[in-house]
Amino acid sequence: MERRAKKRALRAEYIYNGREYMRDYALVYGKKIEDIVKVDELSTLHPSVELEDLGNGSILYPGFINTHVHLEFSSNTTQLRYGDFLEWLYSVIEKRERVLDEATKEVMSKACMQMLESGVTGFGAISSYGLELEVCRQTPQRVTFFNELIGSIPSAADALYADFRDRVERSFECAHEERITPAIAVHAPYSVHPVLLKKAVSMARERGMPLSTHFMESRYEREWLDGAKGGFAGFFEKFFNTTVPVNSPGEFLRTFDGYPSLFVHCTHMNEQEMRHLEKEGHHIAHCPRSNRLLGCGRLPLERISSPLSLATDGLSSNYSLNIFDELKAALMMHSGADAVKLSEKLMRMVTSQAASAIASEAGVIERGAPSDFALVRLPSMPQESELLALHTILHVDRAERVWIAGEECL
Ligand code: BEZ
Ligand code: FE2
Repeated sequence: MERRAKKRALRAEYIYNGREYMRDYALVYGKKIEDIVKVDELSTLHPSVELEDLGNGSILYPGFINTHVHLEFSSNTTQLRYGDFLEWLYSVIEKRERVLDEATKEVMSKACMQMLESGVTGFGAISSYGLELEVCRQTPQRVTFFNELIGSIPSAADALYADFRDRVERSFECAHEERITPAIAVHAPYSVHPVLLKKAVSMARERGMPLSTHFMESRYEREWLDGAKGGFAGFFEKFFNTTVPVNSPGEFLRTFDGYPSLFVHCTHMNEQEMRHLEKEGHHIAHCPRSNRLLGCGRLPLERISSPLSLATDGLSSNYSLNIFDELKAALMMHSGADAVKLSEKLMRMVTSQAASAIASEAGVIERGAPSDFALVRLPSMPQESELLALHTILHVDRAERVWIAGEECL
């Protein structure tokens, strides 16, 4: 049985509730957040709780959420080729066995710990093979376990689907452990046959599972899906002996209609697709360092109205899973945006908006939400509270303390 956390209270100079910064508040918490009150009202409203003051420079954030990571590729440091998506993909195919073999439980747990140290209390794990399920069960974080389906060749479809279904069922066997949420990921429009795609989307709808897909990550994907042209033409000829894409972008997108899902990357999405995602209430995961390193360009944040989350992607296309590294990169990459406003947006993208992208109740500090917190400390408090998000991104590299379900775990 899960241990019941004692009722306690924390006071920080600021509490960020997922939308705004609140000064001089205390929160009363057990496993869930019970109340948020002005510090001077605490002793009247909750006379018996013990208050811990987190001290000068403290900001208490909801635990951060990294919506998209591939733990199975965590052993990669210098093995894969960066710079160009297609060259990277060839290197993944060439080195896959070795990279997967070397991703031992120890290596994958260390990747989870790197996220935890940066204050990440929940993540979306894209699982190609189910190799990280045990690590995800053991890590303290909440994990949305996205079982991935891939396969564009009809002759292999039945076997690939059967394997996928087995992995989904295995993840459901852990669903009673409240920190694992079984979910589905469809790899991409160029790599999943429409029959498989429809089956996976139907399964997600029927079982109410979070659903995600990579979408329009590279210019190769754009050129291939729009006109069977570009670098993917040679790739599909070589590996799949085909000259025709399995999906059109429009048909692919329409399969998700009526079931808000998480679309990852979207760096090469056109205007019509942007409006379609918006209309259907889909979320977008933005992975700036991965996009940069694979030569996929910049997501035009200023043109996106869909809710956004920020994610590291895997160590297969990044050099760390530290969410503060990702925040700093995003701040610098979108150099045309106002730094103050962008920082505020980015903090929502790793808290409240990330939570809604994976249908999690975490990501906010409000009554009834899980007690998942990341304490960070600024060297000194800025006078203007509008600068709190910016200075958090600039001056913080790791969380000082982390709580999940009211238990301190860092
Ligand atoms: C496939 O399995 O069909 C596939 C995998 C990676 C890229 C493209 C297609
Ligand atoms: Fe990915």
